[in-house]
Amino acid sequence: MIIYLDNAATSFPKPEETINAVQRFLTEIGGNPGRGGHPLSVEAARLIYEAREKLAGFINGKDSERLIFTGNGTESLNLAILGLLKEKDHVVTTALEHNSVMRPLDFLQKTKNVDVSVVPCRETGELDLTVLRATVTRRTKAVIINHGSNIIGSVQPLDAIRDAIGNSTLILDACQTIGNIPIDVQKDMIDIICFSCHKALFGIQGLGAVYIREGIELTPLKFGGTGSKSEYTEQPDALPDKYESGTPNTPGIAGLLGGLRFIEKTGQAEIARRKRISTERIVEGLRGIDGVIIYGEPLNSKSLPVILINVEGVEPSEVGYECNRAGICVRVGLHCSPLAHKTIGTFPRGAIRISPGYFTEDAHISHLLEVLKSIASK
Ligand SMILES: Cc1ncc(COP(=O)(O)O)c(C=O)c1O
Repeated sequence: MIIYLDNAATSFPKPEETINAVQRFLTEIGGNPGRGGHPLSVEAARLIYEAREKLAGFINGKDSERLIFTGNGTESLNLAILGLLKEKDHVVTTALEHNSVMRPLDFLQKTKNVDVSVVPCRETGELDLTVLRATVTRRTKAVIINHGSNIIGSVQPLDAIRDAIGNSTLILDACQTIGNIPIDVQKDMIDIICFSCHKALFGIQGLGAVYIREGIELTPLKFGGTGSKSEYTEQPDALPDKYESGTPNTPGIAGLLGGLRFIEKTGQAEIARRKRISTERIVEGLRGIDGVIIYGEPLNSKSLPVILINVEGVEPSEVGYECNRAGICVRVGLHCSPLAHKTIGTFPRGAIRISPGYFTEDAHISHLLEVLKSIASK
């Protein structure tokens, strides 16, 4: 039996709606959208239009043309960061960021003298809002925040952040929060939101998205064929084509539409409730095992379904090995956020991340707890 508890990396299994939508595209549609007038190309374009409308509606984006499809959360963040920041700009970010933020910023620091300030976080994963307020100045071009930590699941308060950063452009990394907690780009005053579609949106791998508030212009990350304005060698200025060159991942977009239908049918609150129950069961079980260290505050009412642990006296890789042998899929080691690991004291050893999903069953949790108990008692 395989027990999948790595939903923060990507959700699995996928709902039937996702699988059926991908299969339908591959068996009945299959055309290249916007690249022809034949019925299969037109049907593919119609499907993308529907997905764009639905996803923009999901985050209350005013204009679905400002919703850009990308290859993953990383590409979304690269488009926002490399597309917005120019020579010597000042940018503020946090110690909880993923490398898909830190690495483009490192590149810009080295090649364009971009000035990067990193605001510290507490061990519990809360951002230091006083330092944030003091670090943002009139010359700050953008503030980049990881909305929900992929390491310890803490969620940052968007209203307090907006209050601290004033009118600065907010780039929100919502890879872990989209689908897990409601997001309203207008009410939450998010200027650019970047996310993956293969985690809590139940899409398949190879798809991400960005929503860009009106008035913000980015330099495209890619230039090329868009299926529009084919008579010109110049990149079109119209959205979404400006930022979406090349054949899109239409099977992935079909899968996303299926995932969104599943969320609509099941209810986001119900999905969150089930994940919460699994998280509580796991944490309560772990608390009963001597030698298990739990980081952060996974039972905080605002936390994501992400639990980070270590077992005293046992290397994380060894815990991972035993879990693999027992058919349990968890993430072990360092999880693409070195500064976050330093903040909570799990650098460079790393830790074990357990992330239950909507399809996690009680029997999976019991088996996980038994295996961890046996590892801790050795
Ligand atoms: C907070 C955060 N940002 C960015 C990413 C990158 O997303 P992707 O793997 O879709 O490129 C992830 C993926 O785990 C993440 O958790």
